[in-house]
Amino acid sequence: MNTFFLTTPIYYVNSHPHLGHAYTTIVADAMTRFQRLMGRDAIFITGTDEHGDKIVQAAEKAGQEVGAFSTVISAEFRALWPQLNTRPAAFIRTTDPEHKRLVQEFLHRVHAAGDIYFGEYSGHYCYGCERFYTDKELEGGLCPQHQVKPDFISEKNYFFRMSRHQEWLTRHIRDNPDFIQPERYRTEVLTLLDSGILDDLCISRPKTRLTWGIELPFDSRYVCYVWFDALLSYISAIGGVGSAGYERYWPQAQHLVAKDILKPHAIFWPTMLRAGGVPLYRRLNVHGYWLTRETKMSKSLGNIVTPLDMAARYGLDAFRYFLLREMHFGSDANFSEEGLVARLNADLANDLGNLFSRVLSMVSRYCAGAVPAPAGDTDLESALKDLALECLANFQALFDAYRFSQALESLWELVRALNKYVDSAAPWTLAKKGDAKRLGTVLYTLLECMRKTALHLWPVMPEKAEDMYRQLGLVFQADTVLLPREKESFGLLNAGLPLPAPVSLFPRVD
Ligand code: MSP
Repeated sequence: MNTFFLTTPIYYVNSHPHLGHAYTTIVADAMTRFQRLMGRDAIFITGTDEHGDKIVQAAEKAGQEVGAFSTVISAEFRALWPQLNTRPAAFIRTTDPEHKRLVQEFLHRVHAAGDIYFGEYSGHYCYGCERFYTDKELEGGLCPQHQVKPDFISEKNYFFRMSRHQEWLTRHIRDNPDFIQPERYRTEVLTLLDSGILDDLCISRPKTRLTWGIELPFDSRYVCYVWFDALLSYISAIGGVGSAGYERYWPQAQHLVAKDILKPHAIFWPTMLRAGGVPLYRRLNVHGYWLTRETKMSKSLGNIVTPLDMAARYGLDAFRYFLLREMHFGSDANFSEEGLVARLNADLANDLGNLFSRVLSMVSRYCAGAVPAPAGDTDLESALKDLALECLANFQALFDAYRFSQALESLWELVRALNKYVDSAAPWTLAKKGDAKRLGTVLYTLLECMRKTALHLWPVMPEKAEDMYRQLGLVFQADTVLLPREKESFGLLNAGLPLPAPVSLFPRVD
């Protein structure tokens, strides 16, 4: 089946949505739109992660009951996605009853298969990380992530026999270079696996310490560890194991995360799936951090960027474009408004916006506002068309490989070539000479290449691409357009099509 299925992390409800969350979800949306244009039945899903100590503490700090608190923040995430023009097919909350049922069924299955045991555990517990640290892992007695002293806790708990899965998992990652991407994260996971034995995973929390979680089906004195609960949301969101949604989408499952949660996705999750008798996901795609002033965004540092503010100030599509163009998928990137404005002016206002306004105003002036007919190419057109097909083929291959920045760079190679072509073919001279045939060829070639450009930009800038289509006299219909043929042939734009009066698509920002 020609399906594509992508997940974002389900975000913790202990903080408000910020640029980091927006980036991952926008990438998921852009990728899903791209796959739709490639002809696939493509969806992505998102949601919120609501159980565990961290959320309880955030609710206490806010002076609210934890359930009510989660509902409010979860609704903030849910409301944000359409405002960023991202369209998840499902929004899952880990407090949803269907999700709870799935987690309990899954725990039951793994327990029955003998992969869960009861044992004593003691260690340094960091509430921020929701995990135990060994002496070795602490830095000067402090949690390396949060720089706070963890509590020393000794208690009886349930453990998942993760260690038993080390060998086949290592082999699987070695044999499937695509399983974790980009390469550096695959290497990181392999190094981790090679560095020693995988520990068993503590998957319960006694209710004496935490009640805000899903009860273990085989011991009502305990709730489930938040990661064992959260990862399963990827399956409950599509209806649970064996459902129609599962049959349709799970075989093509891909995950999208930042590097902060590489280990749970690369190690906990595949071993859980194997233990529960569920086939592994296809691919894990890992991106870096957005930094502001060279440090990771965080509430305590006060360097949070709010996505809706940026969209309101510079336009949603310009913001989406910037995020995909600026970050090399896998590496960290710096967010600054100056950087955004610079790209907006250079790439959008100058290169793309000028191309559209120059060409459209010439068509309006010289061709009575209708698409002219082409009449035979010269070497200039042949060279331009070769370049266009090459750029579009590159764009498609790079985008498909999550290399968004390079994909857009490739598309801009075409945009810049089109601007140069305007200069060298000089339609104004042809108009003055009354060379209607050549003028028709030049302007038609430009309009057709602009249509192709707009189409390829739709995943990244849906509204602007639809505007561009309108400017070309067309109505954009995502479900009827297929990208593959666009890198092979020309001529889908019909001569004679009347065009509306040109408008400025990307005004400069000062
Ligand atoms: N709840 C877990 C995920 C469970 S998935 C089964 C969690 N939530 S989170 O709210 O902390 O979200 C982390 C994710 O948000 C990152 O993996 C990334 O997708 C996104 N980002 C949060 N801050 C980010 C940056 N500063 N930069 C890039 N992405 C960031 O972890």
